[in-house]
Amino acid sequence: MAEVKRRDFLGLTLGGVAAVGGIASLIAMKKTWDPLPSVVSAGFTTVDIGNMQEGEFSQVEWRGKPVFIIRKSSNDAFDDKRDFKIGDKVYTLGLQVCTHLGCIPLYKSNEKEFLCPCHGGRFTISGVNIEGTPPPRPFDIPPFKVEGTVLTLGEAGEEYNKMMALA
Ligand code: FES
Repeated sequence: MAEVKRRDFLGLTLGGVAAVGGIASLIAMKKTWDPLPSVVSAGFTTVDIGNMQEGEFSQVEWRGKPVFIIRKSSNDAFDDKRDFKIGDKVYTLGLQVCTHLGCIPLYKSNEKEFLCPCHGGRFTISGVNIEGTPPPRPFDIPPFKVEGTVLTLGEAGEEYNKMMALA
């Protein structure tokens, strides 16, 4: 009888530890994929990106479309046609809509690539279409403006104009 109780206790303890671990993982996953708090008004989306960590991906909505924002890591190459800096931090962004037939590609953080589930289209971390896959061109970049650490989508600022001049 005592043996059974001990087994029950061990089972409950292990189950409890597994449940706590599972909940902690879910919270961490949710935190990673939560959109940044953003304000949407009259065609503009405003978001503070100052607290993003290296390698962090986030998504906000602009005029009903998903826009990704990634803070690139220091070892990622800088693409002056698609990336911008705030101080020494490098960010990239784009409409997360496949330029093949309009599906929503997924960001694969381990590969630092976007993968479109519809026909296998692939894009680099900065949103450039990978040769040999269906998308004919990079993700579109929405007009944006940077003031301090605040990014406003829907208005063309200096960084955006610089990118467009190089495109
Ligand atoms: S819609 Fe993305 S690869 Fe076709």
